[in-house]
Amino acid sequence: MAYVDKFGGDLAGVRQRIPHLTELGVDVLHLLALFAARVGDNDGGYAVRDYLRPDERNGTTEDLDALISSLHGADINLCADFVINHTSDDHDWARQALAGSKYHQGLFHMFDGRVEPEAYEASLPEVFPHMAPGNFTWRSDIEKWVWTTFREFQWDLNWSNPDVMCEIGDVALALANLGVDVLRLDAIAFTWKRLGTNCQNQPEAHLVAQALRAVVGIGAPATVLLAEAIVGPADLVGYLGRHELERHECHLAYHNQLMVQAWSMLATGESRLARIALARLPDPPATTTWFTYVRCHDDIGWAIDDHDAEASGVSGAGHRAFLAAYYRGDFPGSVARGVPFATNLGTGDERTNGMTAALVGATAAIEAADTDALDVALARAKLLYGIAFGHGGIPVIYMGDEFGQGNDLAALDDPELAGDSRWVHRPAFDEDGATKRLDVDGLAGRLWSSLRHLVDARRACPQLHGGAFVRYLDVGDEQVFCWRRRHPTFGDLIGLANVGATSTRIGLDQLGVDVAAWGPVDLLAPHDRDLGNLGPYRVRWLASPDTYPTVPPVST
Ligand code: GLC
Ligand code: GLC
Repeated sequence: MAYVDKFGGDLAGVRQRIPHLTELGVDVLHLLALFAARVGDNDGGYAVRDYLRPDERNGTTEDLDALISSLHGADINLCADFVINHTSDDHDWARQALAGSKYHQGLFHMFDGRVEPEAYEASLPEVFPHMAPGNFTWRSDIEKWVWTTFREFQWDLNWSNPDVMCEIGDVALALANLGVDVLRLDAIAFTWKRLGTNCQNQPEAHLVAQALRAVVGIGAPATVLLAEAIVGPADLVGYLGRHELERHECHLAYHNQLMVQAWSMLATGESRLARIALARLPDPPATTTWFTYVRCHDDIGWAIDDHDAEASGVSGAGHRAFLAAYYRGDFPGSVARGVPFATNLGTGDERTNGMTAALVGATAAIEAADTDALDVALARAKLLYGIAFGHGGIPVIYMGDEFGQGNDLAALDDPELAGDSRWVHRPAFDEDGATKRLDVDGLAGRLWSSLRHLVDARRACPQLHGGAFVRYLDVGDEQVFCWRRRHPTFGDLIGLANVGATSTRIGLDQLGVDVAAWGPVDLLAPHDRDLGNLGPYRVRWLASPDTYPTVPPVST
């Protein structure tokens, strides 16, 4: 996952980086800020002016065609953002609405007075309270309030108008025709509005996704839909089509709950809350799977559910505040160097920004020239990626993490970026890291080889294919996070992650399987036979060594 400009400068530059992707073992590239964005501030590319034309700074449609052909030639699929909740205020539809076109005004939510907006505001949260308070923006040029959930220049589309479905369905097929393989449905949870609610995760938001699935299913059936629904655990699996009856909805969804729980375990050194929270998620339909990640281009919202927190003996608000403080580096013993985001003094909420390296303590260790602390930080990064790769799902590497790139603090000094601290974790590609990737003594090289190893292990591991049931086991040691996958064809995989800073040992009889009969090895360390022994932050993937025909390994 990478920004076009940060990764390659432009589309032609991204094409030059294909050998980098191939060497790492990447087979899907999610390019951020690809299409034409609003002139001026554009929320990092999420205020889209033209759904189908690349941004001028990135290059021409011909450049995009050339890139897509080259990616496909290298067996790499392309994932692109499909920002279906809103357009920018300089998208053609918005311009025509501003010029008075009733058809185009009808594509958005517009109100003549303050009465309706205020009625909605009574139950609406704010996504960017610091940058864009409120959810409506007054446009004096047409004397209307426009619904703007995110920034004031991102106009929410009115999905209750069937014209929006037709327009967006048309764009979906055109994107597929361009050669985009995976459509990332941005902010899908926000598409339906209902008075008296928070206007997220409404049943109709799922119908919107199901309708889009039907459109691509008929017109471009190889196209994959990825739900970006950064929502609480109770709402998540619905986007994969798990309802009273199973539906065809998205094929993939961000597993933000696994991501949040992994960071939470790292902060506490305990697995209890994660086990309780993850166990509550229903199984996704067998033909869908997760998008598993450690970091992405957005902030980490501390989506700890109050009931899960209580069940594990802590308060939800207290634990969320702890995580925000811990990753800000303001908790005793924390070596994190996160940057706070969207601090909401009214609700007490705070989200967190920062690259993996900054959050796991690598930045602090480098500053202190402390090699032992750097070893620990590295082990923490490997733990997080070992969980993301071994849980099941499509694991994602966020550009920069392959070298342990730190925060781009210069963004905070740039007047155009400082207001949105998410820019600290959107650094430019580290040429220096790239040259150092084969030096296995340094941070860049050690992370590169760790991720290369995980990619190889993941590709050779059919037990991680979708369609397995995942259970989270209590192995009698809170320091150990354990997940057990049962795949009907490819057999079991048991993941063990020591989330604590000290060594521990578990009895394999705690795993609920006849280990002797099963005869697993640790796929990440096949020669290590002492499977219950877990050093600090150690991850093991236990599975039968029997080989199955599977994806060929990457040749480098
Ligand atoms: C999405 C994007 C985020 C953006 C927001 C509005 O979730 O990931 O970067 O700010 O929605 O489009
Ligand atoms: C909120 C939204 C998510 C968006 C993010 C941007 O968490 O739910 O869609 O990406 O804000 O900060």
